[in-house]
Amino acid sequence: MFGCGCDEPVEPARTFDRPRLVREDPTDAPLDGLSAEQLERFERGDALFRTPYRAVQGLGPLYIERSCTSCHEHDARGPGLVRRIVPAPGLALPFGDVVRPRLAAGARTPLLAPQGSAESIRLPPAVFARGLLEAIDDAWILAQELAQATTPGPPDGRAARLSEEPETPTSVLHPPPRLGRLGHKARRATLEAFVADALHGDMGLTSPARPEEPPNPDGLTDDARPGIDVSAQTVALLVDYVRLLQPPSRRTHDRRGERLFEQVGCADCHVPRARTRTDHPVAALRGVEVALYTDLLLHDMGEGLADGITENAAGPRHWRTAPLVGIRHLRGLLHDGRAATVWDAIDAHDSPGSEASASVARFRALDRADAEVLVAFVEAL
Ligand code: HEC
Ligand code: HEC
Repeated sequence: MFGCGCDEPVEPARTFDRPRLVREDPTDAPLDGLSAEQLERFERGDALFRTPYRAVQGLGPLYIERSCTSCHEHDARGPGLVRRIVPAPGLALPFGDVVRPRLAAGARTPLLAPQGSAESIRLPPAVFARGLLEAIDDAWILAQELAQATTPGPPDGRAARLSEEPETPTSVLHPPPRLGRLGHKARRATLEAFVADALHGDMGLTSPARPEEPPNPDGLTDDARPGIDVSAQTVALLVDYVRLLQPPSRRTHDRRGERLFEQVGCADCHVPRARTRTDHPVAALRGVEVALYTDLLLHDMGEGLADGITENAAGPRHWRTAPLVGIRHLRGLLHDGRAATVWDAIDAHDSPGSEASASVARFRALDRADAEVLVAFVEAL
């Protein structure tokens, strides 16, 4: 019954074109100063990150792509992506809201958006520099929230307070972060939880922290690999790969561009500098100043960017300030890739209700030469 020839896509998964914005690939190198053991774990995690899983290894029953690199090629964005079904009154979503178009291990019915329902496209963010995002103290995020709340006018970002329930896989960080910062809507605080989710939701691979197959229309409760598909060790190696990856180096130190970025208020949300926690178990991630260009807060980005989906602390119009670190390696900007250029992305920040509208207005008031300098600065991050 299992291992049949049905391990093939029923419809080509949607991907997007390769891009004007990719001009060079990020390094895929580990952080400097790792121990021999950390380096070995990094290499093993790197190999797993590229591994296309097969049905006999537990892929499916339904899945989106077979490997992490299908969606995070060169640790960046795409070409694979995720589609979510937007809930509507009277629309039952008994199998969840993630479209899983591909079949393995005896599945017959893909999970597609019901006729007439809307979809929210989610482009993958990069995975580089996410070890740094994870290493930012909750206290730093709360300080950004307080600073915005006590400064008159927008922005007024909110920290993504997660429910008290632990995110399951235990974190190597003590205390573990409790504020969401990973995902477009900051739905997770730790890489352990996010990677377990990715294996489970995107590839149909169960792990000790996510032991049940995602619900599916055929009612299958297992796949071609009985029981748990990947070990806690595999999840931990993937986490270490992402955590220990070297962030892209800065290519721009243009002071004029940076000053304009601050002047018009981009930097109010895309906060240039942060410092990582001083008790991080990885020495290379401990107490370092990092240029991530995010406040890790959720912002109301208005009707224009709303996607109709509520996720943990974020409502339909809320998005985590996208970290601009390494943006020169990304193609298709904003959560759904609607913006081809930084100019388009800035325009999309302005719609009714958006906390960023005032900043966009100041950007539009710049003379052409200054606007070009600002955009060139962002494009080179
Ligand atoms: C089908 C495409 C797809 C696959 C396969 C996939 N991802 Fe992702 N990944 C995404 C998308 C889309 C997001 C953003 C999710 C969201 O917030 O809605 C994401 C987000 C992430 C993030 C958080 C990035 C951030 O900015 O917060 C990490 C870390 C990550 N993925 C790691 C992995 C790992 C490790 C694997 C392999 C086990 C993997 N992903 C497989 C599409 C994918
Ligand atoms: C109110 C907070 C806020 C302000 C002010 C703001 N941004 Fe953003 N920015 C965001 C959020 C939130 C996103 C993610 C939106 C999405 O994905 O739909 C984002 C996304 C982006 C992206 C796309 C990044 C990616 O990974 O696709 C770019 C580029 C960008 N902003 C540049 C700017 C510039 C330039 C300015 C100043 C003119 C600015 N932003 C002002 C909150 C802000």
